[in-house]
Amino acid sequence: MLLNVQEKTLLLIKPDGVARGLDKEIVARVKNVGLKVERQEKFRLTEKSAADLYSPHLGKKFYAGLLKFITSGHLIACVVAGENAIASVRELMGATDPREAAAGTIRGDFKAENMFTSDGTIKNIAHGSDSLESAEREIAIFFGRIK
Ligand code: RTP
Ligand code: MG
Repeated sequence: MLLNVQEKTLLLIKPDGVARGLDKEIVARVKNVGLKVERQEKFRLTEKSAADLYSPHLGKKFYAGLLKFITSGHLIACVVAGENAIASVRELMGATDPREAAAGTIRGDFKAENMFTSDGTIKNIAHGSDSLESAEREIAIFFGRIK
């Protein structure tokens, strides 16, 4: 059972989600489950910030393609706060591979006809931090250290 803890997490609307104008719908879904969007800002990641963000994936076969994709356009970064915010945002997003994401999730409902970049990277609309440590590290990349 999940404990009711107040957390902050980083939600990213990735370049494919921004290009498709899905930001309002995604933010609405986050608010609808009672979470608060404390910060929301548009960014274009440099190669260096992208490497920082995805440093846990360094060495994986999809790493280079992932960096290319995440720097390919603007993204929207949000600090989302509330009870079990980390797990709740992951739940709202659904499975990493949109073909496996359930109906009712962001990745399931908005999966694109062509969901792969030319390198074979999965374009899956959104990102959510996967742990407390990741959330603190990732929020700091976009917004500096926040309380
Ligand atoms: P995210 O970090 O973006 O929230 O996604 P996630 O936790 O569900 O998935 P993760 O394992 O952290 O992978 C990060 C991103 O890398 C791309 N990916 N491509 N081609 C592939 O096999 C593959 N595996 C991962 C996806 O864009 C994924 O979101
Ligand atoms: Mg991840």
